[in-house]
Amino acid sequence: MPERWTPDSWRKKPIQQVPDYPDRQALADTEKQLATFPPLVFAGEARSLKKSLARVANGHAFLLQGGDCAESFAEHGANNIRDFFRVFLQMAIVLTYGGALPVVKIGRVAGQFAKPRSSPTEKRDGKELPSYRGDIINDVAFTEEARRADPRRQIEAYRQSAATLNLLRAFAKGGYASVENVHQWMLQSVSGSPQSKAYADLADRVSGALDFMRACGLTFAVDSALGTTDFYTSHEALLLGFEEAFTRIDSTTGDWYATSGHMLWIGDRTRQYDHAHIEYARGIKNPLGLKCGPSLKADDLLRLIDILNPENEAGRLTLIGRFGAEKVGDNLPALVRAVKREGKVVLWSCDPMHGNTITSASGYKTRPFDLILKEVRGFFDVHAAEGTYAGGVHLEMTGQNVTECTGGARAISDADLNDRYHTACDPRLNAEQAIDMAFLLAELLKKVRSAQAKPMPAVAGL
Ligand code: PEP
Ligand code: CO
Repeated sequence: MPERWTPDSWRKKPIQQVPDYPDRQALADTEKQLATFPPLVFAGEARSLKKSLARVANGHAFLLQGGDCAESFAEHGANNIRDFFRVFLQMAIVLTYGGALPVVKIGRVAGQFAKPRSSPTEKRDGKELPSYRGDIINDVAFTEEARRADPRRQIEAYRQSAATLNLLRAFAKGGYASVENVHQWMLQSVSGSPQSKAYADLADRVSGALDFMRACGLTFAVDSALGTTDFYTSHEALLLGFEEAFTRIDSTTGDWYATSGHMLWIGDRTRQYDHAHIEYARGIKNPLGLKCGPSLKADDLLRLIDILNPENEAGRLTLIGRFGAEKVGDNLPALVRAVKREGKVVLWSCDPMHGNTITSASGYKTRPFDLILKEVRGFFDVHAAEGTYAGGVHLEMTGQNVTECTGGARAISDADLNDRYHTACDPRLNAEQAIDMAFLLAELLKKVRSAQAKPMPAVAGL
């Protein structure tokens, strides 16, 4: 029998990655205040997402999850949100059209603020300070005051998340996301690039299909499936005091839900089965993600699956592999086989970002686009070989024309990184690289479909 779960039962477990708040009373007061704030998302929405993810797990849709590594207070604004949403829609239409599959859209957005760090402190020029842990905890500036964990930042993170979500809901449901706008989603910053030509061609084909459907009598009103989209939010469930404050009982089912975002995931550094983060996650009914890095063994994964998804519910658990381009081929098959052997229903997704981070000669943390693509290809290859479904990707990306990952059609070099390196944490795909990625994924999905469509020979070897 598992022990009784409560929204605060995680507090009795060992925990990794906790910030050191100098004023414990102020932290407790803030958490109490947050618990009185309205939820950001609703249980029914989390349930709809779970249903959609179940379709992905069963091979009938594809998951596109992406956004900032860490959202920032300084960069919060309508234009950034719009550009991010636009590039996301562009990617989704490339995948829907090219892959001929519905795309489930989940942003790393409206709450993606807290960061796990490989070291609790950072040294610069002989000075040692606490590491930056995301804007919800402290400030990125390298001063003692900035790096002090301040609970008031949690209130600001809530305010920003609410404002972001409000705009995203308006974009998704108010007409902007109508497929009729497929040409207008083209970003200014991308026009003139090789991606823009490929995208414009695709948009023409989509428009042609819509003209045909209109001629057949179909309309695209804002209340129709083609006039709106479903866009969901997600973040890493890292700052558990904050999550606890937004864990609420759903009045229609009596179940506990995290209401800080639709989907929450557990990071690669906090997935110990008997520690606090897994304890928290097991009790909420939202769809969950679990990052799976190279150190995860098949037995540990099976144990985690039993804790997080004891009823083997489709759509509940997304396993997000993040091995690195050179390791995915060695590490993923054993996990896929164990999960398949035990009959566990999971959604396999690929985070090709976190295992491919290097430091450039100029000292920037970067990710070569070629390695990112290589891990995605490796992920598809493993699933093709194992007879399982490559269900989605998890990307760090932005709608801005930043220079953070090297390579891509514009061949961003080490020397270019200095131009527009804006991330508060890890390097993101820029808009062009993100669209490039979508075209590659569409190709891979097409290949999967044509392999599925091939009739099986009646006699082996024929
Ligand atoms: C992240 O997604 O930003 C992250 C820190 O990932 P991981 O837990 O896989 O390292
Ligand atoms: Co990251």
